[in-house]
Amino acid sequence: MRTETSPVVRLSEYRPTEYAIDNVDLDIRLVPEASSVKARLSLSRRDGTAEGTPLILDGDGLALKGLLLNGMGVADDACTVTPDRLTIHAPPADPFVLEIATALNPSANKALMGLYRSNGVYTTQCEAEGFRRITYFSDRPDVLSVYTTRIEARKSEAPILLGNGNPVLAGDIAGTDRHFALWHDPHPKPSYLFAVVGGDLDAVHDTFTTASGRVVKLAIYCEHGKKDRCAYAMDALKRSMRWDEERFGREYDLDVFNIVAVSDFNMGAMENKGLNVFNDKYVLVDPQTGTDQDYAHVEAVIAHEYFHNWTGNRITCRDWFQLCLKEGLTVFRDQEFSADQRSRPVKRIADVAALRQHQFPEDAGPLAHPVRPETYREINNFYTATVYEKGAEVCRMLQTILGEEGFRDGLDLYFRRHDGDAATIEDFLACFADSSGADLRQFALWYEQAGTPIVSVRHDFDADRQTLTMTFQQSVPETPDGKAKKPMHIPLRFGLVGPDGQDLRYGHVSGGRVEKGVIHLTDAAATFTFSGLTARPVPSLLRGFSAPVRLEDNLSIDDRFFLVSHDPDPFSRWEAAQQIALTMLQDATAKLRQGERPTFDPRFAEALGRLADNDGLDPAFRALALTLPGETEVAQAIGDDVDPDAIHAARRALLTETGSAIATLVGEAVDRNAPPATFRPEAEDAGRRALRHAAWALSLAADKAAAGRIAEFYEQAETLTDRVAALRLLVHYRSGEAERALANFYDRYRDNPLVLDKWFAIQATAPGAQTLERVEALTAHPAFSMATPNRVYALIRSFAAANPTGFNRADGAGYRFLTGVIATLDKDNPSVAARLATGFGSFAMLEERRRTAAQAALKALGASANLSRDVADIVERTLGGEVSNA
Ligand code: PHE
Ligand code: ZN
Repeated sequence: MRTETSPVVRLSEYRPTEYAIDNVDLDIRLVPEASSVKARLSLSRRDGTAEGTPLILDGDGLALKGLLLNGMGVADDACTVTPDRLTIHAPPADPFVLEIATALNPSANKALMGLYRSNGVYTTQCEAEGFRRITYFSDRPDVLSVYTTRIEARKSEAPILLGNGNPVLAGDIAGTDRHFALWHDPHPKPSYLFAVVGGDLDAVHDTFTTASGRVVKLAIYCEHGKKDRCAYAMDALKRSMRWDEERFGREYDLDVFNIVAVSDFNMGAMENKGLNVFNDKYVLVDPQTGTDQDYAHVEAVIAHEYFHNWTGNRITCRDWFQLCLKEGLTVFRDQEFSADQRSRPVKRIADVAALRQHQFPEDAGPLAHPVRPETYREINNFYTATVYEKGAEVCRMLQTILGEEGFRDGLDLYFRRHDGDAATIEDFLACFADSSGADLRQFALWYEQAGTPIVSVRHDFDADRQTLTMTFQQSVPETPDGKAKKPMHIPLRFGLVGPDGQDLRYGHVSGGRVEKGVIHLTDAAATFTFSGLTARPVPSLLRGFSAPVRLEDNLSIDDRFFLVSHDPDPFSRWEAAQQIALTMLQDATAKLRQGERPTFDPRFAEALGRLADNDGLDPAFRALALTLPGETEVAQAIGDDVDPDAIHAARRALLTETGSAIATLVGEAVDRNAPPATFRPEAEDAGRRALRHAAWALSLAADKAAAGRIAEFYEQAETLTDRVAALRLLVHYRSGEAERALANFYDRYRDNPLVLDKWFAIQATAPGAQTLERVEALTAHPAFSMATPNRVYALIRSFAAANPTGFNRADGAGYRFLTGVIATLDKDNPSVAARLATGFGSFAMLEERRRTAAQAALKALGASANLSRDVADIVERTLGGEVSNA
């Protein structure tokens, strides 16, 4: 194990900087291997800083080429300079000006943080701590400055030069082959929102007129030949801008808004002020090369980054512990946007399914952390499902508790009170408390306590008294920080469904606060009694998944089937079916491990059949209802001594049984609900296609001979969505037709990296131990490259995160493969390597042989020399070696 561990950063030790940096003037010369940066910083002492207090600036691997203080050289003994820090021992009276020259090699930057050049395009990535790879700076979010940026490059190499804010001036440099552009951003911002882009880029242009009548020039830049695939992103951008005005009163605040799509990017996209930089996967779609899911993702990510302009940029975070202040809120906003653009219930179900698949395991494992963490060693490792997705759930709960209007009032106050600030969660909550008068102190625990709360409920109907009693208990499981947990404020949206499928009216309620269809749990235990019930109700709890909890109830299986058919809340109908399936899958897994044959309640398939057959329901909803809980979810429900092979076999068995019973019926429903022949990205058509794919899956599960027909669907597919769905089924069922279809797919799409990623991912996620050999072979494929994050995610992360039987093969070879890849990748790109390392996050719940093998592989990785701080941090925490918050 490494001994020299990096220091822990603690929320409790937050202090403002000694100096403010009011203005930043940058002069950046882009040259492939020898770029140069001159930064002119205007500094002033903050209140309370004594004159002469040392100025300490962050750096990361920098080469200093020049240093001037108020225009004069700095004596060697007046400063200390290392690649990672610049200290001026006794700065002069303020304000003063520091000029710093640094030399960079963007072509050699494989970490894709700071200034890098890939595919001939210069771009920057500064969140969270990338600006310090460009120049020495107080590289933290509470230092806000006005930036003016001059960019210079060879005209032939980079005809397009983009910066933050508004364009001021551009021109050629006489007598040279170079040109320049000057950008000014009037809005003070932290360094992580800084960006420049230079390259030979194509673009689509448009305009948007804001609510107050200002015309904003919009552009989306991309590599040549890709422009035709930017139209949908542009449309999504304009819809986002309008929606933010209408729903939240937020108007755009610059003359231009630019988006650049690049092919090598560690994350999804980045909200730099006025200059969003995107992984091109979240920009480029057209009917031939984008699936319905791709369209939905593009729309959501475009909206997300745009919405950051207010939630993140105008109001930013005081420190990185407050990351959820911008991310949780912005995810909530993009989820609401997508819900309005598409189908609200379908969006909610998809978001909850994703939360359970990614965030619940994180919250139950060694990497669990509060939505607002209190310590970190490497902030890059906290761009997590907990900060983003659970953070969004917390905002949603706030809206549930305060009502839509109350929430809007609080948010309006937040924008008024904190515009231009670097704020905290306390600031945020205070706005809602002040505007509504609500006491949110207990609610604040959602930001502080890690772990998914468990709510258990026993309900009891007394026909003579016409009362329903519900007894609740809540608890939060133990988490790695070892903290004692307090009861939380949990809003449970509910209804009491009567025999006719309508919510029953009730009279008096005792035992606690129940308002507008929401039960407010605030104590560790509570008993609510509802009186005046003329018939026995079936309680439908946690409608719309009103809180991110695990609910354990004592509904009978009959009650659950009743809810599947009758609950007025679509989310709860879906949920009731999922819960029935989960219980059956757990039982079936246990049986299979004992060598017994699993059996399933035939009413399950019948119930799904009735849903599928009901043309009164949205096809997208029906498709979701026909999708069984994933293997990860079953593993979570089992909780320990997990055998992924048994889970997989159980799930396949249930699919086979369901398919045998209803595949024909579902096929008929599909025929009645066929999408139009020409592709439209609309949610309605996407839902029809999803229903079709659910039908294919059921028919193949029921009968291997269906592969022939699916191979025909593959051939005749008119959309990429259909073609990919067919290919996935053929490959995942190891049909005889799979190899031919794979070869065909490769030939068709070999020149389109984003589509080819799907080819890699489909192969990486084929269940079974033998997939490892395939994945290893694919790492040697000419189209595979460790330098392209999308490709690494498609092949390696898909294998580790979405192939439980392949990755967890019993001999441990999957684990050793992954640690090998991590060790290699870590030398170039630590943040992508660390993301792969989170693939071990649930190892502790595995059965002994696998658990031991995973642990051994992780320990060996932890012992290797020169691990990055990113990977070392994940490995140590996963193994439980992290020091707690003490
Ligand atoms: N802030 C980005 C977002 O919109 C994510 C990101 C984080 C991108 C760090 C790059 C680096 O969520
Ligand atoms: Zn974000």
